[in-house]
Amino acid sequence: MRFDIITIFPEFFRGVFDFGIVRRARAGGLVEVAAHDLRGWTHDRHKVVDDRPFGGGDGMVLKPEPIFEAVESLTGLAGGDAERFREAGRRVVLLSPQGRSLTQALAGELSKAEQVVVICGRYEGVDERVAEALATDEVSIGDYVLSGGEPAAVVLVDAVTRLVPGALGSETSAVNESFSEGILDFPNYTRPVEFRGRRVPEVLLGGHHAEVARWRRRAALGKTRRNRPDLFERAELSDAERERAGGGDD
Ligand SMILES: C[S@@+](CC[C@H](N)C(=O)[O-])C[C@H]1O[C@@H](n2cnc3c(N)ncnc32)[C@H](O)[C@@H]1O
Repeated sequence: MRFDIITIFPEFFRGVFDFGIVRRARAGGLVEVAAHDLRGWTHDRHKVVDDRPFGGGDGMVLKPEPIFEAVESLTGLAGGDAERFREAGRRVVLLSPQGRSLTQALAGELSKAEQVVVICGRYEGVDERVAEALATDEVSIGDYVLSGGEPAAVVLVDAVTRLVPGALGSETSAVNESFSEGILDFPNYTRPVEFRGRRVPEVLLGGHHAEVARWRRRAALGKTRRNRPDLFERAELSDAERERAGGGDD
């Protein structure tokens, strides 16, 4: 699959995808990532990409024309009907704090696309017609405001790449991770067995696979309940599991 990132700061991405799993996926030809300068799709001498907001107010807004042109030239498809992109196996993601949350489920959906075009906003944001008629998805990486979409694009490319088949060393790795079953991953320990007075839970040292699995499930549920009560509420659990996790049995 291919990521095409549209940004006014293409240099931001220099070297950022040269590490770990994303580097390996790129080297292995599983994913390609390219950052494109939005100013390349302007036609005036000063390469202007922003303008003042109608209705007044502070700051500047990214203009729609270069963004539409960029997406159309990178996909080879006409904008104006986001459904067309989906049908062609493409996704056009507008990064915005007003978008729907980037979840593991959405990352999984995006990992099945042939091409993901990522639009990075700046300033006060992007002319709303991009969300209305160009983007297939308006996506937020969390309930906070970044200065620009570039850090969010790095997060999205990383989260999606690890779900591209073959990107992780073992196919089962992503299956066991946090959120894959709607709850958090279990806690991990490594050597030494005792560190500054804190011992690794005895059950993990015993080599009894069924007991380890039971402990891990309980610990994962306990941690989800403590740190993410919203996920715990929604998780599909038996009454017994819910009760055990509620009883501080982790
Ligand atoms: C300063 S923000 C604009 C914030 C906008 N005025 C608002 O309050 O909703 C500039 C750009 O950063 C990016 N951005 C900021 N926060 C983000 C988030 N939580 N998730 C994804 N992108 C974000 C978007 O591309 C946005 O257009």
